[in-house]
Amino acid sequence: MKTTYPVNHHAIAKAAELLRTGRLVAIPTETVYGLGANASDPKAVRRVFDTKGRPKQHPVIVHVADTSPIDVALTGWVSDIPDSARTLAKSFWPGPLTMILRRGPKAHDGVTGGRDTVGVRVPGHPWALALVRAFGDGIAAPSANHFGHVSPTTAKHVRDEFGHHVDMILDGGPCTVGVESTIIDLSGSAPRLLRLGMITKHVLETALGMAVSYEVLAQPAHTSEAPGTLASHYAPAATMTILEKVQLITAVAEAQTAKCYPGILSFEPRPKGWPVERWIVTPEKPENCARHLYASLRALDASSPDRILVESVPGHGLWSAVADRLQRAAAPR
Ligand code: TXA
Ligand code: MG
Repeated sequence: MKTTYPVNHHAIAKAAELLRTGRLVAIPTETVYGLGANASDPKAVRRVFDTKGRPKQHPVIVHVADTSPIDVALTGWVSDIPDSARTLAKSFWPGPLTMILRRGPKAHDGVTGGRDTVGVRVPGHPWALALVRAFGDGIAAPSANHFGHVSPTTAKHVRDEFGHHVDMILDGGPCTVGVESTIIDLSGSAPRLLRLGMITKHVLETALGMAVSYEVLAQPAHTSEAPGTLASHYAPAATMTILEKVQLITAVAEAQTAKCYPGILSFEPRPKGWPVERWIVTPEKPENCARHLYASLRALDASSPDRILVESVPGHGLWSAVADRLQRAAAPR
């Protein structure tokens, strides 16, 4: 049975039709691939949770079109659009930013996990946008991976995760951003960053002209406010450890002596004799590193190493999202 389709206008029309009948469609977005369902259909949304093995109380992001004004696309999903949200929508939508706003009547508990807010985003990928436009309403789409596992950034990753348990996979090529959207909560009295992404805290503060708070929430699995903020998330199958450069070099020397080769993600070049599939060089630029991050972790995992060692990356600016994902991938399960 064929499930993967190269994305084109014909495939988009078919995908919109499938969504209307309660089926699941994997969608390329600029961040990661999403597992999409008609957000207004609680049964379809439940299927997404079942497919992912995701705890029921976790909310999902509703993806909407880039209407002008944005109120049209958000009608029913949110109950009010604060000025801060309008400002950010103007600057960053379509794009890798999710806003948490007060929920409207269309945002049922299956989407919000029972809370009084809802996450909304206008995706920047041209084909994701084409799909939300063709579908004409909100598409609920968490990342298209099993709960807690590494997010997918290619159609093949989605197929590796779900095989034929998804009705259609739209292949739009590799994602260009590579890590999930930044999430900002604008439902309270002050803006709060909930998830780091490639639209940074500093960039948001500049656009809003005010401070944005961010607390690292490191909560044990299944009790979290939001799954992207769980201590352990985005994790490969092999145990992963983050090391400083000096420590990594020592570990590599020891491994070479023992002729036992862990999977390595490092700024250092691959030493002679190290298996090619067990060594990936970290790109120097944070954008490139983010773009390839999940594919690198998946590739190392696929070589079945007994462990994965990752050289630490800087923690500031555009690196902060990469550093965050690495820490969660390495967190105790
Ligand atoms: O880049 C992305 O955001 C991708 C693509 C597919 O758009 N989607 C994605 O979805 O990462 P997911 O479900 O894997 O992560 C969504 C995050 C979760 O951490 C969830 O808890 C949070 O958004 N979230 C959604 N609605 C929320 C709400 N009302 N309050 C707090 N957090 C919310
Ligand atoms: Mg996810």
